[in-house]
Amino acid sequence: MQSIPRLTSGVPGLFSVQKAVQVKRKTAAMAYYRTPHDVTALPAWQALKDHRQAMQDFSMREAFNADPQRFNQFTLSSCGLFLDYSKNLINAETRNLLVGLANEVDLKGAIKALFDGEIVNASEGRPALHTALRRPVGDKLSVNGVNVMPDVHKVLNQITDLVGRIHDGLWRGYTEKPITDVVNIGIGGSFLGPELVSEALLSYAQKGVRCHYLANIDGSEFHELTQKLRAETTLFIVSSKSFNTLETLKNAQAARAWYLAQGGSEAELYRHFIAVSSNNAAAVAFGIREENIFPMWDWVGGRYSLWSAIGLPIALAIGMSNFKELLSGAYTMDQHFQTAPFEQNMPVLLALLGVWYGNFWGAQSHAILPYDHYLRNITKHLQQLDMESNGKSVRQDGTSVSTDTGPVIWGGVGCNGQHAYHQLLHQGTQLIPADFIVPIVSFNPVADHHQWLYANCLSQSQALMLGKTQPEAEAELRDKGMSEEDVRKLAPHKVIPGNRPSNTLVVERISPRRLGALVAMYEHKVFVQSVVWGINAFDQWGVELGKELGKGVYNRLVGSDESVADDASTQGLINYFRGRHRG
Ligand code: F6P
Repeated sequence: MQSIPRLTSGVPGLFSVQKAVQVKRKTAAMAYYRTPHDVTALPAWQALKDHRQAMQDFSMREAFNADPQRFNQFTLSSCGLFLDYSKNLINAETRNLLVGLANEVDLKGAIKALFDGEIVNASEGRPALHTALRRPVGDKLSVNGVNVMPDVHKVLNQITDLVGRIHDGLWRGYTEKPITDVVNIGIGGSFLGPELVSEALLSYAQKGVRCHYLANIDGSEFHELTQKLRAETTLFIVSSKSFNTLETLKNAQAARAWYLAQGGSEAELYRHFIAVSSNNAAAVAFGIREENIFPMWDWVGGRYSLWSAIGLPIALAIGMSNFKELLSGAYTMDQHFQTAPFEQNMPVLLALLGVWYGNFWGAQSHAILPYDHYLRNITKHLQQLDMESNGKSVRQDGTSVSTDTGPVIWGGVGCNGQHAYHQLLHQGTQLIPADFIVPIVSFNPVADHHQWLYANCLSQSQALMLGKTQPEAEAELRDKGMSEEDVRKLAPHKVIPGNRPSNTLVVERISPRRLGALVAMYEHKVFVQSVVWGINAFDQWGVELGKELGKGVYNRLVGSDESVADDASTQGLINYFRGRHRG
């Protein structure tokens, strides 16, 4: 296993990035991110462009009619997930060409670099080692010449200890009562992953401790939550990798003020506030005891961090053995991703299909449609995972990309979406590929609800694919006894183009292990696409500008800066706010 020295500390400027890249070039000429490619110039890209032309009139309906084996040919099963990708605008040649593209961008080398801890995040000079967090005891992984695995497992033991003490009622609040409510204060990756998993696995919830999430800087969210809580039995987890995020720090301060106002004291604060952070000093300065700070590392990105101590609320919600099952499910997907041939590799295939639609069919967005109440937050998590990772316009070396990168991720739970936005999927002018996710077994069978839920999921992907032709629409109307004139008028509105692609992911039932595999699968899908486009999936410089400008706007709002904003619109809105508050 190759270990690469850390090249920079903190966030390097462009110069240090270039320097880092040069140093790395000398040390390991084959590292994939240092040879950014213009993917559109590769022979495989051209071949796909030609193939796209040839596929112009491809009809999924006809393909299914012509090939009884199509379903078998385009389905696969791994890590407790079953993927049907037969309802796509593809044939065997498409798959071969897409796999050819993956080979030309050296996806194999990139996967190895990711797992080996190479610096795949060039602009921050870091590896991205979320996969280390799910590796078993005894594994070795060297970062800067140091095996990180003992530390990973040390933190897991720390989590186990805390979870045990809280579940056993040994961790007591300032009135010596056991903790009944845990509030995770965090935003972005320090919120969405833990919220998704703890709520998706509600059926595995441990009795006695309720988990809550406080993310936004919105007094109403704070008010509604604290209404339900008693300070003496509440534990706050300040969850922030940087311990420098405005929303989180403001909420943590408000929580502390609330706790004190409810009768808590500074001296007992340590019983009610713990932290997860890689910024020890800032957490200590906030008043958290050093032994109550759960560490994380700069090689874990926020949106990839639910497997780390950021997952503490998950472990508290579902118990330690279930949390370990979650990690182990993700680990099985890591193994699949590293070893399965690309033609049978779930994250690779899903990523390549995304490239196929985004870059060759003009798709701008991708819908995530879980047919499961417990998975209702997966769209939000995947939005951050995908859009913060692949919403980039330059490649790893800073040169501009020459093709579209990450799509808009949107969607929500079915059947609800069917009565809201699916109309646009069926008859709108845009091509929007969709992932349907559905369990076979419900945790809460009610009459024949689950059969109907499952049937609706399948009939949506079927309707997207089959559509309704003009003759079919006309025949249907005639059957209803309509006049020819009315048939002519109404039929165009009833025509549904069809031939719209989707994947269906079936899970027997959402368990910690399968959920771990599912989330890890999407992480790897995102990574594969970043490799194809040659971009960095692990930085997020774009979100910084809004944060920087926010301070200036705030200072003008509260009157501590009387200078005028850089644009008249922003200044006008500041004036409007100030005027209303004066009045
Ligand atoms: O602003 C975006 C972001 O940096 C995300 O990438 C991250 O998940 C989130 O903020 C929270 O960051 P932190 O854990 O450092 O508070």
